[in-house]
Amino acid sequence: MEVIIRDDAEAGCLLAAKIIAKLVRDKPHAVLGLATGRTPLRLYQELIRLHRAEGLDFSRVTTFNLDEYVGLPSEHEQSYRYFMRENFFRHINIDQVRTHVPNGTAADLHAECRAYEERIVAAGGIDLQLLGLGRNGHIGFNEPTGSLRSRTWIKILSEQTLQDNSDVFGSLESMPHHAITMGIGTILDAKRCLLIAFGPSKTRAVERMVEGPLSSMCPASALQLHPRATVVLDEGAAAGL
Ligand code: GLP
Repeated sequence: MEVIIRDDAEAGCLLAAKIIAKLVRDKPHAVLGLATGRTPLRLYQELIRLHRAEGLDFSRVTTFNLDEYVGLPSEHEQSYRYFMRENFFRHINIDQVRTHVPNGTAADLHAECRAYEERIVAAGGIDLQLLGLGRNGHIGFNEPTGSLRSRTWIKILSEQTLQDNSDVFGSLESMPHHAITMGIGTILDAKRCLLIAFGPSKTRAVERMVEGPLSSMCPASALQLHPRATVVLDEGAAAGL
């Protein structure tokens, strides 16, 4: 695992954006795995800037998002499909049919999980998977105790994750308690993983991910097994290393 520490989140996001931009320039047909959450917002802004200022071309890029809440339609403001459209896709020249987010309103969610895996394979696999980090060590919505070999599946959100993400929903009750997420096995199949984590709220999870034992109690520790995992941190998130 390659660990890169920058002074602050701003510098970390710029570095991560640079890594993704280089891949897109070198491989115009790149398949990107994308993440939501507060952490990658600045990174997406930088990619949008590079698109506008330098013509960074996304027209042949394919994307697969990590996860989606069960039960939220794509027009719901808290759905991850909505997040991606508003914060990234509508600002760049990506072909919408090449952007994939699990469908949390599919009539048959298990069939949707299987189909998502098949779509990733049909696209040739993921070249680079961007990841954030939950405070309890989750990646995607792979909560502690889940199998480290899991494929795209439905997870029940942990108390901690519900607490951490409920502010934007107004209350815990109005928040979905389930999500579709790529599994840990799916994530480990990506040719490269790029995890970004910033701030003191992530210090403990970072420590367990990088230095702790490989354990389903910290799903992100599975990245220790990946041959090409890069972790970009700020001083706060790296304070426990
Ligand atoms: C959510 C997402 C994760 C994300 C995590 C951290 O649970 N499913 O993909 O990494 O939150 O979010 P944030 O970046 O807002 O701290």
